[in-house]
Amino acid sequence: MNSILITGGAGFIGSHLTRLFVTKYPQYKIVNLDALTYAGNLENLTDVEKAPNYHFVKGNITNLSLLRSLFEEHQFTGVIHCAAESHVDRSITDPLAFITTNVMGTAALLQVAKENWKDNMEGKVFYHISTDEVYGSLGQTGFFYEDTAYSPRSPYSASKASSDHIVRAFYHTYNMPIKISNCSNNYGPYHFPEKLIPLCINNIINNKSLPIYGKGENVRDWLFVEDHARAIDVIFHNGKIGETYNIGGHNEWTNIALVKELCKQMDEKLGREKGASEKLITYVTDRAGHDLRYAIDATKLKNELGWLPSLQFEAGISKTIDWYLQNTKWLEDVTSGNYQNYYEAQYNS
Ligand code: NAD
Ligand code: TYD
Repeated sequence: MNSILITGGAGFIGSHLTRLFVTKYPQYKIVNLDALTYAGNLENLTDVEKAPNYHFVKGNITNLSLLRSLFEEHQFTGVIHCAAESHVDRSITDPLAFITTNVMGTAALLQVAKENWKDNMEGKVFYHISTDEVYGSLGQTGFFYEDTAYSPRSPYSASKASSDHIVRAFYHTYNMPIKISNCSNNYGPYHFPEKLIPLCINNIINNKSLPIYGKGENVRDWLFVEDHARAIDVIFHNGKIGETYNIGGHNEWTNIALVKELCKQMDEKLGREKGASEKLITYVTDRAGHDLRYAIDATKLKNELGWLPSLQFEAGISKTIDWYLQNTKWLEDVTSGNYQNYYEAQYNS
């Protein structure tokens, strides 16, 4: 029987992945290990929390003795490692938290998986979820390929790049059965409102200003989160050991065009006068070291494993806005308390 450890399953991407695996594979045992940081939220998983094949453990991936006891108890055959500190702005204010979780935490997981699997790697998979940000910043043209040289420029992307290198080192040195994917920006339900899209949705709802860093000309390649979860499923089951797969939406938007699209759709949905929300757009001081453009070439994933994104962006954004409008309690819960302190420090200092 497959016994799979998902780390960070209470976060944004991890919760979509956990839901997919728990419902699609009732014969697998799924253990979600999550420290429940500000970004982890068990409300993201209420629909599957009682499923017989699902188990939640609150704990930190840097805790070697906890990892050892979980491997002992559950005899994992697979690890899908999503847990991370994931927000670039927070990495600028607190880089060490990123190095601790993303670098040390990944190394701890690899170490304990190796201890448990070293005598029989057959059928085991250690799948590390990474980001396109490890490749650095593109100019106006070009794409990131799987063999693009790493050039991370933020503490977040540098910590993810470090963890990718350590994962590959365990493959080459110890034959660890690893897989890595590097995905572009995700969006969708359960996205914590520190990231651009949910932050703007929340602020439009509350008639608060929409902070655009610099001139709003930075470009991101946006993918609906359920499409990312599907890609992880395909790679986990059919991807080759030792390989890296890029995942992306072929869906590039400048930040300003994206925020204007959000404003347009939300004016319609909220019955506001056309152009009302755009008036909330406010240009603010640029992010330090702000990467200009990310764009993924996902041809390898399409050609080798047949994966393609399912949703057009306008439809995905519409679905996402509807989810936030229907889940105001979720939004209120995650934006109360510490979020207010974070927001004040990030935007009003
Ligand atoms: P998130 O911040 O929403 O969730 C991270 C989860 O990890 C949270 O539940 C948190 O509680 C948990 N966590 C953090 N530190 C932990 C620790 N030390 N021990 C145990 N659990 C811990 O992040 P996300 O957006 O869901 O990203 C998931 C993964 O996907 C990350 O590895 C990230 O680098 C990668 N990724 C994200 C995106 C994106 O657009 N969000 C794109 C590409 C790749
Ligand atoms: P973000 O959602 O933080 O993702 P990432 O930095 O990992 O790509 O930001 C997406 C883009 O939006 C990025 O270019 C920074 C920009 N941005 C703003 O202009 N204002 C904001 O308040 C935030 C959070 C991001």
